[in-house]
Amino acid sequence: MTIAIISDIHANLEALERVLAYLNENKVDKVFCLGDVIGYGPNPNECVELIRDNCQAVLMGNHDYAGIGIGDIQNFNEYAKLSTFWTRGKLLKENTQFIKSWPFTYELETSYLVHASPKSPSSWDYVLSVNDARKHLKTFNQNVCFIGHSHVPVIFSDSEYYRKKELVLEDNNKYLVNVGSVGQPRDGDPRSCFVIYDDETNKIDYIRLEYEIQKTYDKIIKAGLPVFLAERLLKGY
Ligand SMILES: [Fe+2]
Repeated sequence: MTIAIISDIHANLEALERVLAYLNENKVDKVFCLGDVIGYGPNPNECVELIRDNCQAVLMGNHDYAGIGIGDIQNFNEYAKLSTFWTRGKLLKENTQFIKSWPFTYELETSYLVHASPKSPSSWDYVLSVNDARKHLKTFNQNVCFIGHSHVPVIFSDSEYYRKKELVLEDNNKYLVNVGSVGQPRDGDPRSCFVIYDDETNKIDYIRLEYEIQKTYDKIIKAGLPVFLAERLLKGY
């Protein structure tokens, strides 16, 4: 079975539509979303509704939790705070209710899904190094845990990290796979990023897709959101 894992859409409709069209064309069996569907971007409702209609499950991200008024924004930077207030004002009641139902973790037979980290899903810890990864690798039963949150695509084992377009995971090893970000990549490549996982061959494929960034850029400016949030999309930071 082929499973697409997408994350960190951040209310970027153009990016999400491009990714979903690709998944449809390529007949991927199932799609899961690791959260942060909203925050930063100009189309929170449209993105929540597309995720609802196209994903088997969607997990709670820190921006989703803040957007529905539950999550703490004390640790958010000024751009994140501003966009959270903006998002709260736009989010439709039924979409707020839907987000409230999203779980913090989700288990599949061969993989574990969480927005930030498996050890303490609601602490929103970042896993940025092999050292960080070691604290988490024993906290799930499957061989692989998919994460998002940092917006940087990378795979960690307990001894190495991999920045590759594809990787076949070893059966007797454990991995944290950061799938990157659909709507706000931060690895210097502005193209949307996500993973397709084949749970029979154990192969991870990173997909990068161009989308109409200028259209999203213009919407961010028109909405009165910070210019920085538009500029960063152009260069992927
Ligand atoms: Fe995010």
